[in-house]
Amino acid sequence: MNQTRNTKLSYIIDIPVIVDEGKLMFAEIEKHIPFAIKRFYFISDIIPGAIRGKHAHKKTKQMLFCIRGSITMTLDNGKERESFKLDKPESGVFLDTMMWHEMTDFSSDSLLLVVASDPYVEEDYIRDYKTFIQLAGGKNI
Ligand code: TYD
Repeated sequence: MNQTRNTKLSYIIDIPVIVDEGKLMFAEIEKHIPFAIKRFYFISDIIPGAIRGKHAHKKTKQMLFCIRGSITMTLDNGKERESFKLDKPESGVFLDTMMWHEMTDFSSDSLLLVVASDPYVEEDYIRDYKTFIQLAGGKNI
């Protein structure tokens, strides 16, 4: 049975794990992934100390799994911020539209799988934090 845990600003879903001679994990649209997947990508071989992400999306929704190793995920909705560790292959964090996200503390073996609701379009990115804050309604950090 999959489980959903709320974080402060989003949620993490634990997708099913079938254990026999090994482990098999799977996800289905609607049951586990709240959008039709139009794209996926992997992130690997991250240089120590790297910070990835540092953007939000206007339209694209994503679900991010750290399928090997561990990372720290930071989410920011323009009003509040939170950080947590992702270190289990079955745990996916939902990245909604207008959710600033940063990934840090990559373990040397880390491998990320991201599924996305839309094809890659650079215009969908908000890469400037001040612009993000303005669009998200402003805040004082
Ligand atoms: P970016 O999304 O900024 O990576 P991260 O969030 O990990 O920091 O993408 C890095 C580069 O890769 C950028 O030049 C755009 C390109 N890219 C694509 O061409 N297609 C894709 O689906 C993705 C995710 C990135």
